[in-house]
Amino acid sequence: MHKFKHLPEPFRIRVIEPVKRTTREHRETAILNAGMNPFLLDSEDVFIDLLTDSGTGAITQNMQAAMFRGDEAYSGSRSYYKLADAVKNIFGYQYTIPTHQGRGAEQIYIPVLIRKREKDKGLKKDKMVVFSNYFFDTTQGHSQVNGCTVNNVYTKEAFDTGINSDFKGNFDIEKLEQGIKDVGPENVPYIVSTITCNSAGGQPVSLNNLKEVYKIAQKYDIPVVMDSARFAENAYFIQQREKEYKDWTIEQITFESYKYADILAMSAKKDAMVPMGGLLCFKNDDYFDVYTDCRTLCVLQEGFPTYGGLEGGAMERLAVGLYDGMNQDWLSYRITQIEYLVSGLESVGVVCQQAGGHAAFVDAGKLLPHIPAEQFPAQALACELYKVGGIRAVEIGSFLLGRDPKTGKQLKSPAELLRLTISRATYTQTHMDFIIEAFEEVKKNASKIRGLTFTYEPAVLRHFTAKLKEV
Ligand code: F0G
Repeated sequence: MHKFKHLPEPFRIRVIEPVKRTTREHRETAILNAGMNPFLLDSEDVFIDLLTDSGTGAITQNMQAAMFRGDEAYSGSRSYYKLADAVKNIFGYQYTIPTHQGRGAEQIYIPVLIRKREKDKGLKKDKMVVFSNYFFDTTQGHSQVNGCTVNNVYTKEAFDTGINSDFKGNFDIEKLEQGIKDVGPENVPYIVSTITCNSAGGQPVSLNNLKEVYKIAQKYDIPVVMDSARFAENAYFIQQREKEYKDWTIEQITFESYKYADILAMSAKKDAMVPMGGLLCFKNDDYFDVYTDCRTLCVLQEGFPTYGGLEGGAMERLAVGLYDGMNQDWLSYRITQIEYLVSGLESVGVVCQQAGGHAAFVDAGKLLPHIPAEQFPAQALACELYKVGGIRAVEIGSFLLGRDPKTGKQLKSPAELLRLTISRATYTQTHMDFIIEAFEEVKKNASKIRGLTFTYEPAVLRHFTAKLKEV
């Protein structure tokens, strides 16, 4: 087929959700009332919402239809088996627990894996360290609440927006192994492979890297959890960039990838496209004891293990979404949409992280060099972008990172990024053009944008509810 310059959406949008246009004056008041924190804005006041790609996109016709088939039995419902069969078929994992979302899975598996390591290997609770290419905020939060120190072993190019590299989400294998040796393998209850690596800018992890991580984990008998929110995007990048897999289908690459983990934890609100839902699954009998303990905790925290956090209709919808999210044309379109946005931003002089799967990450540190890290340049940029275009984005930098839990000192993030997260099948190319134009406007005024300081700072997870003012 002829290679066209523009790649239109490979779907039709047949639901219209009207959005309000607001004035600059209205938005200036709204962001001030929200304590200069876009999390606290009302969605009514937002024109283009790029806060997250989590549960905010469209669903497919097949997913919509599947909801009507829900079997709402409390136990052993048909819909549960539909979901468990999809998991077996796609990932090769034998045991499934549905959860209300990703963190629903985290709150269950994390304490169970710690207890197992204590019982089997004599883990010392005051010495626990867990490793990841980069922990997502809630995975980090649950690990810390349970007493673990987190260690992100990312590669040196991961956060350098000046470097392009195929797999910026990879683990630094040497740092991983050295880290395990330093704390003693008995004190490492789990390793988390995050695909794609959200915090590094939606950057993929290669299959070769997943294999190497798993080899080390097996050597020290440490379970690997695949944090799977964007599993299909990761498979797409592998297909496009890792030569050995260029002729493999997304389904084949996905199945292969999951051989290199023991447990799957998924926020199904991203690649599986559901508004709400998650999964906790186990490959085989190797961790059967963990599975059964997780089922027990699930009853307590989520619901009976054959529905967990989901209604029957939602399990049916997820069973379809897991397949629909792997469509080749769909993935190719989506990733091209991100590339389009990133190259448009760079063409107007806005430096970005190399295009990833689910978002453009603007280097706010480079755009606002006059604002020091402790005055949160990316948060200041988020506020200005909202004032200019009614666009809501999210800071991924020092404001998110927070303080050292021991010393209370503000930590310095490896980069000050502003994430423009693109919801699935929701925004078109016109929206992307509007965003690029808004940045041109922001740039004109960049040197006048002021840093921020707290007026209210919660002790934990401050990113979501803190209030700030201009310095
Ligand atoms: N893991 C990853 C890699 C995630 O990106 C998220 C959520 C979670 C786990 C937690 O899942 O939200 O379903 O409880 N990420 C969203 C985001 C919120 O905006 O990146 P959840």
